[in-house]
Amino acid sequence: DWTPATFIQETVQRIKDQVGNGKVVMALSGGVDSTVAATLISRAVGENLYCIFVDNGLLRKNEFEQVLDGYKHLGLNTKGIDARERFYTELAGVTDPEKKRKIIGRLFIDVFHDEAIKIQDVHFLGQGTIYPDVIESVSVHGPSVTIKSHHNVGGLPEIMHMDLVEPLRFLFKDEVRRVGRELGIDQMFLGRHPFPGPGLGIRILGAVSEDKVQMLQEADAIYTQALRDHDLYDKVWQAGAILLPVQSVGVMGDERTYEFTVALRAVTSVDGMTADWAHLPHSFLAKVSNDIINQVKGINRVVYDISSKPPATIEWE
Ligand code: XMP
Repeated sequence: DWTPATFIQETVQRIKDQVGNGKVVMALSGGVDSTVAATLISRAVGENLYCIFVDNGLLRKNEFEQVLDGYKHLGLNTKGIDARERFYTELAGVTDPEKKRKIIGRLFIDVFHDEAIKIQDVHFLGQGTIYPDVIESVSVHGPSVTIKSHHNVGGLPEIMHMDLVEPLRFLFKDEVRRVGRELGIDQMFLGRHPFPGPGLGIRILGAVSEDKVQMLQEADAIYTQALRDHDLYDKVWQAGAILLPVQSVGVMGDERTYEFTVALRAVTSVDGMTADWAHLPHSFLAKVSNDIINQVKGINRVVYDISSKPPATIEWE
């Protein structure tokens, strides 16, 4: 019978056998999988696990600080890297979604590689790959895009001549959560909605800029906090705000405005492969809309996405 406790015991032993006194380097994303995987590896090798968490400038508001703090509490030896400028510079003016994904993925690998080689004599790369990733690496996005190309740091093991340590390779998401709970990992990590590797970079339609990131972070933070306050966060599979490249006319006092639109998205789903738009209460949407328009400079219109997948996708890019 599979239980989280026996899984943890056996897995920690297996990692010890594989790694011995070697060093493991690993990229953390703030998500459930990499957090649970890193915690297991650290149980096996302690301070010989070196975690790297990159701020690509496309995370949610305050996420970098909060997540780093969470890792510290878990006892993970984690280095946070502020690479925001590098990402903004390379993304400037790029509008094509696939190009944006490629740039973000490549830069992430560059930044991670630059940090990883500073640690001497590392022979192992930890990864939070779970069973559906192994199957899905075929692609749900069509032939040219591999899902999670960002998270899975594709190509790195070959470049760096490292062996993979993938403790979750045969688990499904709900099992990963159960293992995480058994390991004492905070609900902040375990209950977190999925968030795409390219982050807000693919929720800003068109060109990404620091200004737009800040605008979207504010709107997204208001929306996400409201979902929590109204006990809706755990009732949806995923939610987020999207900044549209459209300006429209509004009024503020007796001035006309010409500002941006934010689309709110929330879906219910079991695995992300199909999804229904979430029927959030109108009173809730009214409050969020008001708060965003009143508090976020540059936004004068909020719309709610009522499209299901298929044929729409969860993300807009
Ligand atoms: P779509 O938009 O294809 O999204 O319905 C399905 C799930 O995948 C996530 N997603 C991504 N995750 N890198 C990721 O790591 C990506 O490029 C990417 N694109 C979509 C999306 O957030 C949803 O959970």
